[in-house]
Amino acid sequence: MSGNCLVIGDLNLDLVFTGIKGSPELGTEITAKSYSIDIGGSGGVFSTILSGLGINTYIISKIGNDGFADFIKDKLKSFGVKIDKLVVESNQCTGVTVSLSYAEDKYQFSSVKLLEEFRINDIVFKDIKNVGHVHFSSYYIMTGLHNNYLKIIKNIKSYYGNVTFSMDTNDDPKNKWGKEIYNILNNIDIFFVNKKEALMITKKSKVEDALNKLGKEVKIVIIKLGSNGYIAKDGNDIYKGESLSVNYKDSTAAGDNFDAGFIYGFVNNLEVKKSLNIANICGAKSVEYIGGVGGKQKFVKVKKLIGKVI
Ligand SMILES: Nc1ncnc2c1ncn2[C@@H]1O[C@H](COP(=O)(O)OP(=O)(O)OP(=O)(O)O)[C@@H](O)[C@H]1O
Ligand SMILES: [Mg+2]
Repeated sequence: MSGNCLVIGDLNLDLVFTGIKGSPELGTEITAKSYSIDIGGSGGVFSTILSGLGINTYIISKIGNDGFADFIKDKLKSFGVKIDKLVVESNQCTGVTVSLSYAEDKYQFSSVKLLEEFRINDIVFKDIKNVGHVHFSSYYIMTGLHNNYLKIIKNIKSYYGNVTFSMDTNDDPKNKWGKEIYNILNNIDIFFVNKKEALMITKKSKVEDALNKLGKEVKIVIIKLGSNGYIAKDGNDIYKGESLSVNYKDSTAAGDNFDAGFIYGFVNNLEVKKSLNIANICGAKSVEYIGGVGGKQKFVKVKKLIGKVI
């Protein structure tokens, strides 16, 4: 194990509606059978899963000073995530993501004002010790960091020395998919995207071509394919995996669970294939529970399954 993990990115409250009758349409009300409240934001879910798996994890993000923030902080702490460096904006509302979850996919509505206002100066390393790996989540939402990722990476390296970096861009809500991201990719060691994101970022139409293009920039590229598993590239090696069969409930944050599983293997110096197997387990188990993090019983099952593959 090479040090603690630091997550820099998005943290929201998730409201996940399931068993929904119909689709949203202006001027109509649709109903859902049930909903759950959970930690949201890709960075929030990633850090909680990684910490729950046993990796000492810090998160730096921006939340408000309200009841939603209290819920998020309590749950992060209950899974062991270190939250002392969260930036709390008084008199501001914590970001919320409303997810309408269907069997095929989901609609997501996110308030991201605080996240867009998150800046390089909000990242304070003092009291965060011995960081070996840094994960950046939701590049396209963290617009206030866009001009400064290279500087942040440089600062991290000069503060902690030899650090590895991962990033999951997630979706671009503005649907621009600008080429600026290529300015930072060769500083990232592990790049996570889903199929749509891979195709949009590379402007390719085939996932294999997208993988090859991204593989020229980043050593390890992992493209998540939902219920079709994943395809990944580490240097010249290509890995493909089918997804595990599941008792499907909700796919919210399956990708963040997958990412955390991979990084769990990576920081434990496991082979890429083993780390991918762990990721696949985390992604699959995630869809069997409503919400991104779920309860402690999920972790008991996940850890048992991980024990069988390492
Ligand atoms: N229906 C499913 N059955 C089994 N495994 C699944 C299913 N859906 C997702 N997974 C697992 O979760 C991983 C990530 O899923 P997905 O492709 O939805 O990522 P994503 O789009 O990044 O998700 P997110 O919504 O969290 O951003 C898949 O690669 C797979 O391992
Ligand atoms: Mg994703």
